[in-house]
Amino acid sequence: MPNQPAHALIERAAQPDDVAGIRKLLDHYAAMGDLLPRREAEIITNLSHFRVLEVGGDIVGCGSLEHFTDELAEIRSLMVAPGLKRNGQGSVLLNALIDIARQRGVGRLMALTYVPEFFHKFGFHTVSKDIFPEKIWGICVNCYKFHNCDEIAVLLELQDT
Ligand SMILES: CC(C)(COP(=O)(O)OP(=O)(O)OC[C@H]1O[C@@H](n2cnc3c(N)ncnc32)[C@H](O)[C@@H]1OP(=O)(O)O)[C@@H](O)C(=O)NCCC(=O)NCCS
Repeated sequence: MPNQPAHALIERAAQPDDVAGIRKLLDHYAAMGDLLPRREAEIITNLSHFRVLEVGGDIVGCGSLEHFTDELAEIRSLMVAPGLKRNGQGSVLLNALIDIARQRGVGRLMALTYVPEFFHKFGFHTVSKDIFPEKIWGICVNCYKFHNCDEIAVLLELQDT
């Protein structure tokens, strides 16, 4: 029998059918403490902000671009499947999200992360969380880690790039 062609990896906007796949990935990394958990209702509410990586119908990566204001947005829930790490696919997702932010005229793009080195590759620099009161008092205040958050804030100033 001839070899079946390998499925191509596709980066695209998320669709309603992707919610279960996004949730499965997110639950995995939330259980490991790498990412903060998000309820399914929250994923559905924010689905239009998500990009995904799909291969043969499976969701193997995702990330979202969520706005605080027209000028300030955040990269959230960025991840690739464990077996896909260090293959450049996280970079594909982050580049896509940065491009969208740039097209929208976002001035400052931030993230809270345990892997600042990954973001530094894209020109983000490490900053104090205190410069994002929108994040701290809008979202972090409801997080179980609020009083001892050990995530690192990174910022990309898009006017400069
Ligand atoms: C962080 C994550 C999205 C990176 O995706 P990835 O596909 O593995 O990363 P890439 O292959 O595109 O990496 C590009 C470069 O970033 C840097 N990098 C990536 N992951 C890194 C890590 N864990 N530590 C240090 N540097 C890292 C490396 O320089 C890498 O290039 P190299 O492999 O040639 O050395 C992925 O590791 C992941 O899903 N982690 C778990 C969830 C998570 O922590 N997400 C971040 C949320 S803010």
